[in-house]
Amino acid sequence: MSLHNPISVRKRHPLIGAELTGVDLRCPLDNNLFERIHSLWMENLVLVFPNQSLNDEQHIKFGSQFGELEVHPSLAHRSSENREIYRVSNVDESGNIIQSTETAWQYINLSWLWHTDSSFRKIPSKGSILHGIETTKKGGHTLFANMYEAYEGLETSIKKRLDSLYVMHDHDYIIKQSRDLSKKSDKGSYENLPPVRHPLIQIHPVTGRRSLFLSPHTMDYIVGMERNESRELLDELIHHATSEKFVYKHIWENDDVVMWDNRCTMHAVEPFDNTSVRRIMHRVTLVGDNQPISIEST
Ligand code: OGA
Ligand code: MN
Repeated sequence: MSLHNPISVRKRHPLIGAELTGVDLRCPLDNNLFERIHSLWMENLVLVFPNQSLNDEQHIKFGSQFGELEVHPSLAHRSSENREIYRVSNVDESGNIIQSTETAWQYINLSWLWHTDSSFRKIPSKGSILHGIETTKKGGHTLFANMYEAYEGLETSIKKRLDSLYVMHDHDYIIKQSRDLSKKSDKGSYENLPPVRHPLIQIHPVTGRRSLFLSPHTMDYIVGMERNESRELLDELIHHATSEKFVYKHIWENDDVVMWDNRCTMHAVEPFDNTSVRRIMHRVTLVGDNQPISIEST
């Protein structure tokens, strides 16, 4: 590692989230810088880079240094210029606030629920990088939960019970979370995604640590468990994992870039007045390297 590393690091929360200054994300990272950022990412789970005025091409280039980028299954939310850019926005590409009756608005509204990006894929995303372009002051903050700590905070007997459980995750389950969307015949234009089975506890491929793998917007049921019991257990775990002590709240400034690890965190947007307050965020999403690793398989 370079002795003259320019990065300054400041924790934003005791358990999750650190701010990195002294790096310009528009410039390619040399090996030392890449390794330093990567290890800070693994250590802090969420990295915040303030004052990064990136355009979408620079955002894509920065993200690509960490791996291949996903193309989101929803056509309505891809940028028309760059398919790797997923628009988390209540404003359309012409600059107008989207009507709350629109499918695109209702889908984005579901990011208010706790979730993990791309948990509906056989190989879920390993990380996401979000650029705040037009951010909000009243609400619209983003919450991130540390899922390693959530796992470690469980009683030993509960951990044992969860070790061998699997959960069915389904993209259609997201749609069912919205009363408006589920009533529509047009639920948006999505690529076809069959349900997938993921372990409830996963082992991080880089750190080797165990974490709870929850994504409430795609988790349909626990395999082999009666429906009500499954729902009850999942709800208890969600409640536990989102306790204040595990959660960092990111209050956005324009041109913050926030990068999180989807293998050991989950996130949710805090409600804001999305019928009249504009919020524009662009995301690139890193393709996962592997299917979630269960305890059984190690
Ligand atoms: C996301 C998401 C967070 C936000 O980009 O994956 O859920 O703050 N949104 O908009
Ligand atoms: Mn998300």
